[in-house]
Amino acid sequence: MNYRHAFHAGNFADLQKHAILLALLEALTAEETPLSVIDTHGGAGAYDLGDDMAQRSGEAAAGIWRLMATPDAPPVFAPLVAAVKALNGGKDGTLYPGSPLLIAKALRKTDRYTACELRDDDFDSLRRTLAPYAFAQAVKADGYATAAARAGKGGRTFVLIDPPFERPDDYAQTVATTKAVLAKDKDAVIAAWMPLKDLETFDALMRAMETVTNDALAAELRLRPLTDPMKMNGCAMVMVGTPKPAEGAIVGVTTWLADNLGEAGAKARIWRA
Ligand SMILES: C[S@@+](CC[C@H](N)C(=O)[O-])C[C@H]1O[C@@H](n2cnc3c(N)ncnc32)[C@H](O)[C@@H]1O
Repeated sequence: MNYRHAFHAGNFADLQKHAILLALLEALTAEETPLSVIDTHGGAGAYDLGDDMAQRSGEAAAGIWRLMATPDAPPVFAPLVAAVKALNGGKDGTLYPGSPLLIAKALRKTDRYTACELRDDDFDSLRRTLAPYAFAQAVKADGYATAAARAGKGGRTFVLIDPPFERPDDYAQTVATTKAVLAKDKDAVIAAWMPLKDLETFDALMRAMETVTNDALAAELRLRPLTDPMKMNGCAMVMVGTPKPAEGAIVGVTTWLADNLGEAGAKARIWRA
């Protein structure tokens, strides 16, 4: 496993994933039912964008720093901007929250949260990040198997699937995990992130998703036309069981990012399978 999220933290893909994640959590925590959240690929938990890895990639400069410098960014990004400011003690700073910290801060004491990570170094950081939260557990285990095993054990299940897509079977595992989770809890909410390179890879994923659910919502963020499949041309969130109150935010986040961070021919495409 070579992937280090520290190179990519705070980039355009994190903005879409994390802003949508916060909208889903806001809708789900407005309901009384306790949540059981499983984050299949937790990463380090939080990142310092001033460190060498983030500086070398420069991706945060074109993502979160651009958003933070946009005074008229739409309110749909306010929860993410507030989370970044809070992590930096209200001052300008270089800390950026990963999905584990965003989730832990959004949950109630009655909810439960499991975050998985396989790398030793990122797992150590994840464990330290989640240590203050009694309802949260960092586990050094395969995220797909953990989601299938822990779903449906009380409370409403919410699974975030955010693989590095280093392995050719990450698409198949995303679909298999969706199927396994829905078999345990038919009302589970699932949000899966994936890169957009060429259309056939994404279309094949959606066709496979349609074999396990009739409730998939795709939010495609195309930063440029998908003409060069060797490039990451954008990314997508594919969601199942999307709470209605979060739908406007999903459209708003994806559209703003395409319009403001994209190149010529960029577009947001939000559709139901
Ligand atoms: C895209 S990053 C996660 C980022 C994180 N979800 C966030 O938004 O802040 C993917 C992480 O998954 C880890 N990983 C890779 N394969 C895994 C597996 N099968 N189970 C759990 N973690 C895995 C990688 O080491 C990497 O840190």
